[in-house]
Amino acid sequence: MSGVDGATAVVTGAGSGIGRALAESLSERGARPVLADVDGAALNGVATRLDASAVVTDVSVPEEVERLARTAGDVDVVCLNAGVVGADLGAPWEVSARDWERVFAVNVGGVVNGLRAFVPRLLASGRTAHVLITGSLAGVATFPGGGAYGPSKHAVVAVAEHAAMALSGTPVGVSVVCPALVSTGMSAEGVDAAHVAERALDTIEDGTFAVVDEQWRDTVVAGARRLASGRHPAPPAPTDPTR
Ligand SMILES: NC(=O)c1ccc[n+]([C@@H]2O[C@H](COP(=O)([O-])OP(=O)(O)OC[C@H]3O[C@@H](n4cnc5c(N)ncnc54)[C@H](O)[C@@H]3O)[C@@H](O)[C@H]2O)c1
Repeated sequence: MSGVDGATAVVTGAGSGIGRALAESLSERGARPVLADVDGAALNGVATRLDASAVVTDVSVPEEVERLARTAGDVDVVCLNAGVVGADLGAPWEVSARDWERVFAVNVGGVVNGLRAFVPRLLASGRTAHVLITGSLAGVATFPGGGAYGPSKHAVVAVAEHAAMALSGTPVGVSVVCPALVSTGMSAEGVDAAHVAERALDTIEDGTFAVVDEQWRDTVVAGARRLASGRHPAPPAPTDPTR
């Protein structure tokens, strides 16, 4: 689709951080946002400020995402953004079964439930549309620690690639943003969420599939080379911008 002006755009996890920034940028670009979040108070605060529709939704529950799709009606853009970090941030065996389940249910289940609810409707409408997925740098590079989060984001990126290949040749585009740290409810440090949201929305127009910050690209490539050539993994590191 060309631009989002006049588009109806769903955003999950819109009550805070990157989702809230996506909602604000969409509004500024002339779209009609339909906002979803499990936190009703945060969601309603953003929706009231932006004069947007709000549907309290837990993205890990397929029926709730289906209800969101029904309520939203004819949609042009779907931002599957909601995500969580687990409570246990150690090595795989240090993470509780409950935490593995919850992080995968929200991060991976949220994206899959979104695709299942929205893509058949988008295809049936025949209109040009776009699905924008919030992945993470932790989904294209493997960091030590972090519990279930990184593995869940690897699955999110794989689902995004899978969906993009399956939708190739249709009017439904797919892209995935893979930011490093962003200053949000999830992280005290990092870049401004508004910057990430702007770059993410640009993919709808510029045809980029994945957004990975330039300083992390070499280490992502190096990690893939290590794996393909049988070498042991090493922690990823950014390129030194002064070199
Ligand atoms: N902050 C970072 O450093 C960073 C980096 C890369 C990727 N991300 C990704 O960005 C996305 C947004 O996270 P953020 O950083 O803005 O965090 P955030 O905590 O500020 O916002 C996440 C929002 O998602 C909502 N949410 C949580 N569980 C939900 C559920 N089950 N159903 C619906 N909504 C739910 C929360 O209520 C919250 O409003 C996530 O997918 C996250 O993994 C974040």
